[in-house]
Amino acid sequence: MEFGELLYEGKAKSLYKSEKDDELITCFRDDMTAFNGVKKDSFQGKGAYNAAVSAFFFDYLEKNGVKTHFIKMLDDHTMVVKKLQMIPLEVIARNVAAGSIVKKLPFKEGQVLNPPVIVTDYKDDEKGDPSLNDDLIIALGLVTPEELKEIKAVTLKINKLLYEFFDELGLIFVDFKVEFGRYKDTILLGDEISMDSMRLWDKKTRESFDKDVYRFNKGDVMTAYAKVVEKIDEWKREHLK
Ligand code: C5P
Repeated sequence: MEFGELLYEGKAKSLYKSEKDDELITCFRDDMTAFNGVKKDSFQGKGAYNAAVSAFFFDYLEKNGVKTHFIKMLDDHTMVVKKLQMIPLEVIARNVAAGSIVKKLPFKEGQVLNPPVIVTDYKDDEKGDPSLNDDLIIALGLVTPEELKEIKAVTLKINKLLYEFFDELGLIFVDFKVEFGRYKDTILLGDEISMDSMRLWDKKTRESFDKDVYRFNKGDVMTAYAKVVEKIDEWKREHLK
């Protein structure tokens, strides 16, 4: 398949036109950034790890009734997706307190959040992704009240599916971020589901296997990402025989 024109270059992915008007091509690059681009590096193979994990989860979620933009992989770091009108919301679900809510609010790191907490941030790097409540989301006209209800319900469904999945792998699904977009008259899960956009802790040692390894210099981030890929591959060998 021919790559069309480069449409958008994000911090870790590039988006290209495809031969079809209603499809796009996403390239997962090896770039890694943190703290809104202040910390930047590149790790060979990182794009392929995130692409493989995202493709696996999009497929897993589809099989469990969640509609996503995923169509197919072109190579190990390139994905064909449905072209969405993205909704500028970062929808975050949290099962355990970590990261920004521990900084901003009197939660203790590691505190279990049951039921899970959903936080919705406005996607705008220049404004520092400010937190929105439901009234602000509606007042800004980002989605209708019904769409917001659906987005939250789908996020909770994804959370439950992935929490149970990672639990089987010996990992705690601490939190994650998803983004949605409109496609025809439906809302689909877009963007990615990877170690860049979630927190995963070892159940026993609480060791991180996600971007926090990079953010806070907790060790070798590629070793951490490789471990998650290896665990998913093991799961596949057992379940997809
Ligand atoms: O930084 P914070 O604690 O709010 O992040 C919550 C979760 O959302 C983390 O898993 C983080 O990796 C993810 N996130 C993201 N992209 C952002 C902000 C947060 O993937 N812009």
